[in-house]
Amino acid sequence: MKTITVCMGSSCFSRGNSINAEVIQRFLAENNLTDKVNVRGCLCEGECKNGPNIRIDDKLFTDVSPEGLADLLLHELENEK
Ligand code: FES
Repeated sequence: MKTITVCMGSSCFSRGNSINAEVIQRFLAENNLTDKVNVRGCLCEGECKNGPNIRIDDKLFTDVSPEGLADLLLHELENEK
């Protein structure tokens, strides 16, 4: 099972992760992945200046925009479907 970790530290949150968290929930629901992917939050990845940051398992994605997030999820979660 994959784990998506959304940085909810104040920097990432205000740079876009507040919206990104909603995009992730919607994407998982629309693709029937809610039971197959873990979503958690964390407080800071120590990479604030490159945020907003999202981790999928061990891979850290920086500067994640809500516009590009669905493509990223599609690519990273394709084996979970
Ligand atoms: S707040 Fe996200 S890396 Fe620091």
